[in-house]
Amino acid sequence: MAIASTLLDDYDATVALAARNPELIPADLVPPASPAGKSLAIALDYTDQVSITKAAESCHAAFEHIDLLVNCAAVNRAPGWPPEASKGSLEALRAAALEEILSINVIGPVMACQAFLPLLLRSKRPCVVNVSTSRASLGLVAGPGSFGYAVSKAALNMATRKIAAQLADSGGAAVAIDPGWVRTRMGGPEAPIEPAAAAARLLKVAIRNADSINGRFLNLDGEDVPW
Ligand SMILES: NC(=O)c1ccc[n+]([C@@H]2O[C@H](COP(=O)([O-])OP(=O)(O)OC[C@H]3O[C@@H](n4cnc5c(N)ncnc54)[C@H](OP(=O)(O)O)[C@@H]3O)[C@@H](O)[C@H]2O)c1
Repeated sequence: MAIASTLLDDYDATVALAARNPELIPADLVPPASPAGKSLAIALDYTDQVSITKAAESCHAAFEHIDLLVNCAAVNRAPGWPPEASKGSLEALRAAALEEILSINVIGPVMACQAFLPLLLRSKRPCVVNVSTSRASLGLVAGPGSFGYAVSKAALNMATRKIAAQLADSGGAAVAIDPGWVRTRMGGPEAPIEPAAAAARLLKVAIRNADSINGRFLNLDGEDVPW
């Protein structure tokens, strides 16, 4: 939400907000449809390929091109499973829980990139931001915790490199950005970074020269995070 809100307020952008339950998106972010409407709410569940395809079709109907695709949604534990099934010790992990976390955090965002690629390629400067985390860093790995989350985001980082290689030919960029510890449902109330501040800083990194960010893993200051 904070990224969409910043794009609307600070960049005067036209925005499609995708959510599993678009009816829950606050009304001020999605005013009733009108010719002057700057935002559109669409349904998208990363675990449902049909919903990804339909979301892209809605955007095809509404927009000539898109300049920026932000894959932000993720889970840090498999929904419906006890935490240890996807984030505990090796002994406690469950295959189905790991599959679920990979489905949401990797396969969904990758298939969203595929579905939106034709619209992105109509932009003069297409950009994909995959929201990552320092927990994905092979260099910074600290312990066995957050197993499925860390593995899934490391895979998303590799996917970002692959997409970057493809977008380079069209003057575009794909970048993995670690937002730091943000005060959201996932980050919790102790997190030091407000969502609005994280969104503003993330977008400042994303709009940099495409060549300077393409295929990189960056933090909110635009500095490299170790892969
Ligand atoms: N918060 C932090 O400190 C922190 C740190 C490092 C990286 N990150 C990254 O920042 C990004 C945003 O995280 P957050 O802190 O905003 O997390 P969050 O508060 O837990 O929100 C996660 C969002 O993902 C959505 N989602 C979950 N499963 C989905 C699915 N199958 N299809 C579509 N959407 C789904 C949720 O939708 P519902 O509302 O419908 O559940 C929710 O809107 C994530 O990529 C996360 O890994 C966060």
